[in-house]
Amino acid sequence: MDGNGRWARQRGLSRAEGHRQGVKALKPVVKEASRLGIRVLTVFAFSTENWQRPPEEVDALMALLVEFLRSETLELKAEGVLIRTIGAIDDLPPVSLAALHWASQETATQSRMILNLALNYGSRDEIVRAVNRWMAQRHPADEPELTESALTAQLDTVGLPDPDLLIRSSGELRLSNFMLWQCAYAEIYITETLWPDFGPDELRRALDDYRHRQRRFGRIG
Ligand code: IPE
Ligand code: MG
Repeated sequence: MDGNGRWARQRGLSRAEGHRQGVKALKPVVKEASRLGIRVLTVFAFSTENWQRPPEEVDALMALLVEFLRSETLELKAEGVLIRTIGAIDDLPPVSLAALHWASQETATQSRMILNLALNYGSRDEIVRAVNRWMAQRHPADEPELTESALTAQLDTVGLPDPDLLIRSSGELRLSNFMLWQCAYAEIYITETLWPDFGPDELRRALDDYRHRQRRFGRIG
């Protein structure tokens, strides 16, 4: 959900205010995705690299996360949304963690759409944690080598399909350590729109673009 800072700067506002508007933009997009029949929507909310931002900004982001969960979880639940996470969430502040546990328990039986929050998420970190888990759990006699399916089963995204569409806001042309493994064949859609201005109409534009893609997965057309 990139572009909050630039959105704020263009208006002479603080970065924290940009993030506040960014969080506001989220609910309508989640609801529209659910309405359109999207089964899984992952939002990249906080990366393993974002800890390197000024502490006030990190604190503001963490506070907004808790605020979002407290104010929106029940409404999202009523829409059939299940909330889950990817990332090393145990390293988040205890209040954030408590709010996440509450939101995921509260929505655990919903099945219309999964809202997957990437928090303290970095794809390289995820892969290393996955390999370490695999090594700790394997029985060397029957599993001498790691396989693609064995690694997939240890990733934070276990149980989720690979993304079909990756939407990048604010015009950046990079993956920024997001689902490097899972996005092997994701279609990429880039919009100049800054995240706080990203709304349901922009989501529909991205999906419309996606509908015209020919996905070959390495085969011929
Ligand atoms: C939000 O946008 C990303 C988060 C960490 C939530 P940015 O804060 O990266 O916005 P820009 O890139 O400065 O515009
Ligand atoms: Mg950015």
